[in-house]
Amino acid sequence: MNENTPMVRFENVHKFFSDLHVLKGVSFTVPAGSVCTVLGPSGSGKSTALRCINQLEQIQAGRIYVQDELIGYKEKNGRLHELTHAETAKQRAKIGMVFQRFNLFPHMTTLENVMEAPIHVLKKNRGEARETAERLLSQVGLADRLSHYPSELSGGQQQRVAIARALAMEPELMLFDEPTSALDPELVGEVLNVMKDLAQMGMTMIVVTHELGFAREVSDQVVLMDNGYIIESGSPAEIFDNPRHPRTKEFLSKVL
Ligand SMILES: Nc1ncnc2c1ncn2[C@@H]1O[C@H](COP(=O)(O)OP(=O)(O)OP(=O)(O)O)[C@@H](O)[C@H]1O
Ligand SMILES: [Mg+2]
Repeated sequence: MNENTPMVRFENVHKFFSDLHVLKGVSFTVPAGSVCTVLGPSGSGKSTALRCINQLEQIQAGRIYVQDELIGYKEKNGRLHELTHAETAKQRAKIGMVFQRFNLFPHMTTLENVMEAPIHVLKKNRGEARETAERLLSQVGLADRLSHYPSELSGGQQQRVAIARALAMEPELMLFDEPTSALDPELVGEVLNVMKDLAQMGMTMIVVTHELGFAREVSDQVVLMDNGYIIESGSPAEIFDNPRHPRTKEFLSKVL
């Protein structure tokens, strides 16, 4: 692995839910330190593609690599063998994921939510976990909410806790699946700003979103999915100012 090793590489990935073919030969590459935004109509396979990266879903053909490591399998003498649970857990550990719903532990404070996995998974001592959690919570603008419970926080604040919680696991890659679409409009900006900061700090991010302003401003690469295919990908300028595929034009005209 060197600095030119892509963070994520999809090679002709196919995914079926029984008879339903939802990823139909998806290939794309996300360079380390870059931001890739995934756009596309409902049901086009965006969430499924993300979920395959951290093995919440299995693929039926093709390959996914994270930092040149084959996801889910190891290759021995030209044959693929499924990874053990421990090996899978190890691959997942370097990938943080933030969903539309925040999934915080309701019985834990903000601080405890962020300290939990570093203590139990990374085996950090409480002092160290607390220090990291406080730093990350201040990074997402929540230094004054450490002892609040999720029910005492706004949706935007809860989502920022969820981001801090994912970051506490020291991920190499962050996946976001419509992180702002469950939020009241006035709370969207604060979460997008935290994500922008994260991008500026060099985090590699794949973001499924309908926030086109964010996609245009923050992405290095925009990927357009439709019906299980990537129909077009390119820089924000290419996609937004000069889309080539008629379906891209149609999609953009509907959401803009
Ligand atoms: N667990 C599942 N079992 C069966 N079919 C599924 C499952 N998850 C998703 N699908 C189907 O796979 C297709 C792609 O779904 P996916 O959730 O990836 O779409 P999406 O692009 O994220 O859509 P949205 O914008 O609505 O979130 C859809 O037809 C969906 O109904
Ligand atoms: Mg989705």
